[in-house]
Amino acid sequence: MDILKINGGNKLTGEITLHGAKNSALPILSATILVKGVSVLHNCPKLKDVDETLSILEGLGCKVKREGSTVTVDATDVNSSKIDEKAMRSMRSSILFLGSLLSRCKEASIFLPGGCDIGARPIDIHINALKQLGAEITENGSSICCKADELKGTKIVLPFCSVGATENIIISSAISNGTTTIINPAREPEIVDLANFLNSCGADISGAGNSVIEIKGVKRLHSCNNYHSIIPDRILASTYMSACAITGGDIMLNNVKVSTLTPVFPVFSEMGCKLYITDNTLRIKAPARLKKVRSIKTLPYPGFPTDSQSMVVAALSNAKGTSVVKENIFENRFRYVNELNRFGTDIEINDRIAIINGVDNLHSANVFATDLRGGAALVIAALKAEGESTISSIEHIDRGYESIENNLALLGADIKRIKNEEGFTEEKFTKAKS
Ligand code: UD1
Repeated sequence: MDILKINGGNKLTGEITLHGAKNSALPILSATILVKGVSVLHNCPKLKDVDETLSILEGLGCKVKREGSTVTVDATDVNSSKIDEKAMRSMRSSILFLGSLLSRCKEASIFLPGGCDIGARPIDIHINALKQLGAEITENGSSICCKADELKGTKIVLPFCSVGATENIIISSAISNGTTTIINPAREPEIVDLANFLNSCGADISGAGNSVIEIKGVKRLHSCNNYHSIIPDRILASTYMSACAITGGDIMLNNVKVSTLTPVFPVFSEMGCKLYITDNTLRIKAPARLKKVRSIKTLPYPGFPTDSQSMVVAALSNAKGTSVVKENIFENRFRYVNELNRFGTDIEINDRIAIINGVDNLHSANVFATDLRGGAALVIAALKAEGESTISSIEHIDRGYESIENNLALLGADIKRIKNEEGFTEEKFTKAKS
């Protein structure tokens, strides 16, 4: 396992180009098996989660090829409807194969998904929705079997606008008999991207991004028209914005979908950052010291994204004054704060509320990443902290960031990835500290 060594204190300056959105790539890749032919995806990030998804596709019989950021999936010969336990446990989004396999093979057999430990993350909304579409589902504690000779369109009212459940419904009902209407779907930009991909393959989906989605089932899909380009990663953008903000930097981000970032712009403006926006670039210029913000509440899109919460908390830890952040989506999403406080930050957690008393200085620390975005928050703190910090368990970070160290180094950070030759494991690390 690698670790990151960061010598903090450098202001970030310069420009980088953002990669495509992980959370778009994963559902779109799982939807490629609906197409008995070739799907070409541009701007597909090279991430651990994407690689795992490509391996799952290969295991199902697809031919997969990557050239740079272009991925080609030939799903002409899908020959299995089962996904093994190891692959399923590696990431939560593998649950999306339930809908795509059901559609393609009329059955799916999968284990319960894993992913970041940020809350209970049940899948009841997915299961109920698929049952309403006519699937027969049996669960045995660790695995799920799903069968349906034909999926039939119906009206599905979601009790909560779950991103994954909305994607599973869209994927499974794209080829179906009749019309499916989703009331209270998730409205995230990645849902729109998935619908655009499927529509370019002949699906008939309207309303994605709004509060009602209508899917008129078609008989089959064809190869996507030329190619589909995955939207830029908005969470990646907010990560580099937070890194720039805490270091008092001035950076330009290229390949940004500005409209997807409107929920985070007011927060950075309130911190005192200046934002210069064009169609697909964003320059952020931070003040020497950030200002506190009154309060942030994470909410489904178009609210402030839960995935940006930890990075923004890290930036606010060094702001002047006290800020309050409430996490409304995942109950366990402040686990990283214990590690963050090792940098000398002063953050108190009260159930789902973080009270961030901004400190004047951060000092170096040796910490481990608890989860993907929590890990990114530690990187941000280390960029500001005086002296050398190490971050271990960075396999979590690699799930969502392509070469984070190279991009930050391009912006002037003193950061290196090195082999963890001491054999530090999270367990040994925790014992050593206690
Ligand atoms: C997706 C994103 C993740 C992001 C999250 C919220 C991907 C690959 N992951 O995750 O990065 O943080 O959206 O924006 O796109 N819930 C249930 N029952 C269900 C499903 C969800 O109770 O069947 C609850 C969850 O426990 C959680 C909330 O709903 O508290 C949100 O989950 P959901 O929107 O489904 O998130 P994911 O699709 O897992």
